[in-house]
Parts: sequence; C-alpha cells; structure tokens
Amino acid sequence: MRFLLLNGPNLDLLGAREPEIYGSATLAHIEAELSAAAAELGVELRCVQSNHEGDLIDALHRARTDCDGVIINPAGYGHTSVALRDALIATDLPAAEVHLSNLARRESFRHHTLTADVAIGQICGFGADGYHLALTALTRHVRARRTP
Ligand code: DQA
Repeated sequence: MRFLLLNGPNLDLLGAREPEIYGSATLAHIEAELSAAAAELGVELRCVQSNHEGDLIDALHRARTDCDGVIINPAGYGHTSVALRDALIATDLPAAEVHLSNLARRESFRHHTLTADVAIGQICGFGADGYHLALTALTRHVRARRTP
C-alpha cells in the first residue's frame, strides 16, 4: 500500500516559520518520522512538497495511478484553489486533510477549505501529530474497504 504525503506552499519553512503557530519540527523531520511510522504499518510514503499549485496537481495526477490514498496539507491553497480541489476529486482516492494549527481558532478566512468536504476527514490543531493521526486513520480506512 502506498500513500502520497502532499504538503503545500510555505510548509518547506516549517521549524522556522511562525513556530508559535506551526511548531518547531522541520518538514524533513516530520517526513522522516511519518515514513518510519508508515513502514511499520506496511505503508510506503511518497513525500512531496511544493510551493507551486501546478506541481501539487501533477503529484495528485501521478498518485491517481499508483497510490492508495492521500494525506494532504494544502496549506494556503486549501482556502483558495478550486483546481487543487478538482485534482483531489479526480484522483478518486481517499484523502485525509491535515492542518498543524486549529483553523477554527484563527482568522475567519482560514475557517473554510475547499478540500475538506472531498476528503474522508480533516484533522487540525494537533501540530505534527496530526499527520500521524491521519496516517493511522487512512490506513484503517483503506484496509477496511479492501476485499478480504
Ligand atoms: C496550515 C493552515 C493554513 O491556513 C496556512 O495557510 C498554512 C498552514 C496549517 O497547517 O495549519 O500554510 O495549513
């Protein structure tokens, strides 16, 4: 089983960027820990981060043919990108949306994402732990739907 871990714009700056909101862990650290946790579950993780909308869409198109699920933190594009939403739908893959911060406690423009209702579920506010919660939930979701 393979999942795409897709992180959107500015998440390459995790650790340095507003650590009081997003925490001190770097994206490299999060990806390494999550890949190790995934391996223990028998899941291969493909980690992609981009600051460019089209690259994120291309990664979803590729996942459509060779992944079983998507863990996505769309970052700022989650609030604005119809194209990213469309690409996520086009994958026809189960997705878990993650946000490090609790969107409901932030500015009103962050309260809604265009991707949340096309994901299986959204986890936000638990910092980097949210990725691990998403990995567990998505793995269980996919396995539960597999024919025995
Ligand atoms: C974020 C929340 C978004 O509103 C913001 O634009 C980000 C990060 C989060 O993980 O909390 O870049 O997705």
